[in-house]
Amino acid sequence: MEAGHPHLARRPRNQGNGSGLAGNRFAERATGRKQYDFGDYRALSFLAIGETMTTITLPEEDPMLRVVPLPADANMYGDVFGGWIMSQADIAGAIAASRRARGRVATVAVTSFVFHEPVFVGDLLSFYARLQRVGRTSVTVDIAVFTERGNGTGEIIRVTEATLVYVHIGPDRRPRPVPE
Ligand SMILES: CC(C)(COP(=O)(O)OP(=O)(O)OC[C@H]1O[C@@H](n2cnc3c(N)ncnc32)[C@H](O)[C@@H]1OP(=O)(O)O)[C@@H](O)C(=O)NCCC(=O)NCCS
Repeated sequence: MEAGHPHLARRPRNQGNGSGLAGNRFAERATGRKQYDFGDYRALSFLAIGETMTTITLPEEDPMLRVVPLPADANMYGDVFGGWIMSQADIAGAIAASRRARGRVATVAVTSFVFHEPVFVGDLLSFYARLQRVGRTSVTVDIAVFTERGNGTGEIIRVTEATLVYVHIGPDRRPRPVPE
């Protein structure tokens, strides 16, 4: 257990999830215990007697971006605007792609974007980026977004996942090969 987060249990980096499904994005068992797999990221849900308690851990790696949405980032209902989350995810993915390409990149496609849970003003959002594929000129990046709710409970929720494709471009804005 981790101090300050009574419901959080950290797993050592690279420890298997025991499901035999390592590499699947979401591995799940129908035993009252769920396991999601996003690389090293593990989220565990435990069904206790008479209650449901969700225990989730942040990935061990550093997030590419951490940001707190403000009231100006909300929609007309007061929750955080999905387009704002998309733009932050695009920024996080572009950082990862640009590091890999060692140069300028342009977003060419968003191949998936899933909002699992709402995001609230004051949440602490962490954007994690993983290289999914490196092509001749393109870099595909998986993004996972987690929130730590701003209510002091330390509750961590996986809110969004996305996959974006970036192209390494030169000063002429035309594609150029991603270096080895
Ligand atoms: C990015 C851009 C330079 C690519 O030019 P292009 O002529 O389409 O380039 P190509 O057809 O050679 O494709 C380049 C790479 O992108 C990939 N790609 C192109 N369209 C794609 C799509 N819809 N989905 C996934 N990958 C795609 C190709 O597979 C190729 O990857 P590879 O070299 O690793 O095999 C051009 O599309 C562009 O300028 N787009 C606008 C970018 C921009 O302004 N983004 C910000 C949005 S506001």
